[in-house]
Amino acid sequence: MSIKNRREQWSSRWAFILVATGAAAGLGNIWKFPYVVGESGGGAFILVYLVAIALVALPILAAELLLGRLGNHNVIDSLRRLAVGRGYSAHWSKLGWIGLLAVFIVLSFYGVVGGWTIAYAYYALSGALSAGGAAPAEHFGVLFGRTTGTPVQALGWQTAFMVATALVVGSGVRHGIERLCRWLMPLLFVLLVCLVVHAALSNGYFGVACRFLFAADVSKLTGESVLSAVGHAFFTLSIGVGAMLTFGSYLPERVGLTATAATVAGLDTLVALLAGLAIFPVVFAHGMEPAAGPGLVFVSLPIAFDAMPAGQLLGIAFFALLFVAAITSAPSMLEPMVEYVRERGTGSRWRATVLVVCAVWVLGVAQVMSFSAWSDVRAFGRNLFELSDFLVSNILLPLGGLLIALFAGWMLSPTQTNGRLGIAGSFLHGVWRFSLRFVAPLALLLVLVSGLR
Ligand code: TRP
Repeated sequence: MSIKNRREQWSSRWAFILVATGAAAGLGNIWKFPYVVGESGGGAFILVYLVAIALVALPILAAELLLGRLGNHNVIDSLRRLAVGRGYSAHWSKLGWIGLLAVFIVLSFYGVVGGWTIAYAYYALSGALSAGGAAPAEHFGVLFGRTTGTPVQALGWQTAFMVATALVVGSGVRHGIERLCRWLMPLLFVLLVCLVVHAALSNGYFGVACRFLFAADVSKLTGESVLSAVGHAFFTLSIGVGAMLTFGSYLPERVGLTATAATVAGLDTLVALLAGLAIFPVVFAHGMEPAAGPGLVFVSLPIAFDAMPAGQLLGIAFFALLFVAAITSAPSMLEPMVEYVRERGTGSRWRATVLVVCAVWVLGVAQVMSFSAWSDVRAFGRNLFELSDFLVSNILLPLGGLLIALFAGWMLSPTQTNGRLGIAGSFLHGVWRFSLRFVAPLALLLVLVSGLR
């Protein structure tokens, strides 16, 4: 096996925090989180989500970074080397394949929604995001239908998004991914804070939104909403699939992993909550339903913006934010596949990038078509797009997370994990191991079993 192992590194701890937060904070936080919260009844869902982040997702995030650092290769070779080096079966590298399959599928549908964000940023900039006297509800419903349901258009936007992602990843770990996040993540926070401040000042519904988001009515919780909260905690932190493992393999040795992981999880959660605080006051002020589903930010928000003073500016800010969130996340799905192909292949990053992106694009075409010509092609009551989301969030991510927790919790000895995490000898180290060995696997087993039922 020839592995060309000229590996790059992030330039500093903060550079990594921006990159990992960029990977974590994406469409999941700004597009999906608000509508699943809306559909699952608000505060109670958020409570479960926060508990899942702290008890299950955060320990696994730290574990992935640690496995990346110890393995120092692409996800598959890292896992194989670590397992074999400790006398375990080389079959553990199959866990890496589950991860690569998952990122392959996620990126194929992420590119579609990423394409919509470019389309809407363009509409907002060009002034097309205005009903211009027509009935707004109908106008924006039709616009969304046209954007997603006209194959040529939707394919164009999706292709543009995939090309942009390829250019970032092809340019390298430091010159591509890190440079992008250094510029765009501060912009993401500025845009988000501006939108929240505007929402707080411009209408009287900020309090209503806060109550909706933070007053937990536990009686509203169903098994299904608990399941989707745990699945979403994994999706939003981009864990369980080796993406963070790959990013962790580029971390300089001096960076402590636990504090870094906690910072990333905290910032990601902050972005999701701020997105809720930016969106729901607007939704409530215009008498709209929080449970509008995937169309919430693409249909409901434009209707509201259209009726507000400086609505065009708000539209530009919001859809720029959405695009920034998407384009800083997409490289984290492409990079694990590219790094595998690069290390196993010729060592050329560009060649690996083009190869992988073309393959993802092909599945992406089918995803695009699932909104138009192929919307009737269904399995288990879902079209391809819905099926992919279900397969990833409810099966592949929890399964990958479960195996990673077991791998790091049971196969690495305390002496190997101690010290490297930056919490040497402390009580926290014990908590971390306990969570990986018992809490996370049990929780994930429950999620998996109920998800498969
Ligand atoms: N976390 C991202 C979001 O919230 C999505 C994402 C990026 C992801 N990389 C991933 C999801 C890897 C699963 C696996 O939008």
